[in-house]
Amino acid sequence: MFSYGFSFGSARTHSPVPPPAAELPTIRELPDPFQQSDGSRLTTTEQWNHQRAQLQALILGYQYGQIPAERGPVTAVESSSAAHPQLPARISQVRLTCGPAGQFSFSLLVVAPKPAARRFPAIVSYSYGHDTSIWARVVDRGYLLAEFDRNEIAEDRPGGKNALRSYYPQGDGGRLAAWAWGFQIAVDYLLTRPDVAPERIAITGHSRCGKAALLAGAIDQRISLTCPNGSGCGGAGCYRFTPPGTEDLAAILGARPDWFAPHLAEFIGCVARLPFDQHTLKALVAPRALLSTEALGDLWANPEGTQQTYLAARKVFQWLGVGDRIGIHYRQGGHDHNLEDWLALLDYADYIFFSKPTRRHFHHLPFPANHDLIPWSAPHEGVVSTPKRAKHTSKVQL
Ligand code: GCU
Repeated sequence: MFSYGFSFGSARTHSPVPPPAAELPTIRELPDPFQQSDGSRLTTTEQWNHQRAQLQALILGYQYGQIPAERGPVTAVESSSAAHPQLPARISQVRLTCGPAGQFSFSLLVVAPKPAARRFPAIVSYSYGHDTSIWARVVDRGYLLAEFDRNEIAEDRPGGKNALRSYYPQGDGGRLAAWAWGFQIAVDYLLTRPDVAPERIAITGHSRCGKAALLAGAIDQRISLTCPNGSGCGGAGCYRFTPPGTEDLAAILGARPDWFAPHLAEFIGCVARLPFDQHTLKALVAPRALLSTEALGDLWANPEGTQQTYLAARKVFQWLGVGDRIGIHYRQGGHDHNLEDWLALLDYADYIFFSKPTRRHFHHLPFPANHDLIPWSAPHEGVVSTPKRAKHTSKVQL
């Protein structure tokens, strides 16, 4: 039985320095998320919260770096607020300031449906040029939208400022961690608004912001629905399954090393030593909801590998009795976050938040399932089992 031979502290504490990649075992398939750090497997669903904390510490330690659970007091000052001339919405600019000494601040643009006499489900997103055609659809469906510019939190250029590192200098969080932290601060603020339904907060992001959105959704239990779009490598993609034309670990770290924690570079050329893959990150969202929106022509973002991580993570969701809370949606076309992606998110959100029926397929799989990649299955309640190894033919339910 394989054991990691170590475990991390909780995400709230300092993690010990993780063992170097060279000391970790090679796991060619997607690592078993039901396996605990001592090598035994989970036996009951009550153990999931503890296992999730362990897996989270592993993923932050090796991949993204630390994200402090404390964000200090977050204060909000509205600098402008006006009715939109065409939309039934009020547009406000809110300055959020964070940290004990008010170390840094960034703006949130809030598009709130009118009249504000009730609580709306909310979507936090990155700023994407204020595309009012998307605003119109979001507001029309009765959702509030809050957008922020990631560059105000961590500049998207080598050597650029990273507020997370200034706030938490002893940490090793890269830019993705900082942007994920930005999503969390936006949620801190939304939870204070009288027009936001606290149990109906969704987040979405595209590409690098999709990676950050998935990370934020994985670690923050207040986020009810997480939707990474075209997030690929370091997001909803897969490190171990990279068809030709797909971005892999060496490519992303060659171009963007500071998006990640320094430890990740140890795995270049030996990704099979990673004690997790991105299905593990997706599984952390459970039992809350997760939708990946993908494009079939977006090869760089690994649409096929994203299906593999979906299939593997779904086993955790199903085990927890929430198999319908993980979805995947493919459209034709390339790397973009377009109206079709947004409409898929809104339909899924309506289903998750309001049980509205939808004709859209959130479990349709365009690629063949690679069963060899997922040789394990969910534990049976009360049965202590050991992990199966490669040649198993566990059938993935379609
Ligand atoms: C690059 C990078 C991707 C990233 C994308 C983006 O293509 O390699 O990992 O997702 O930029 O954010 O647009």
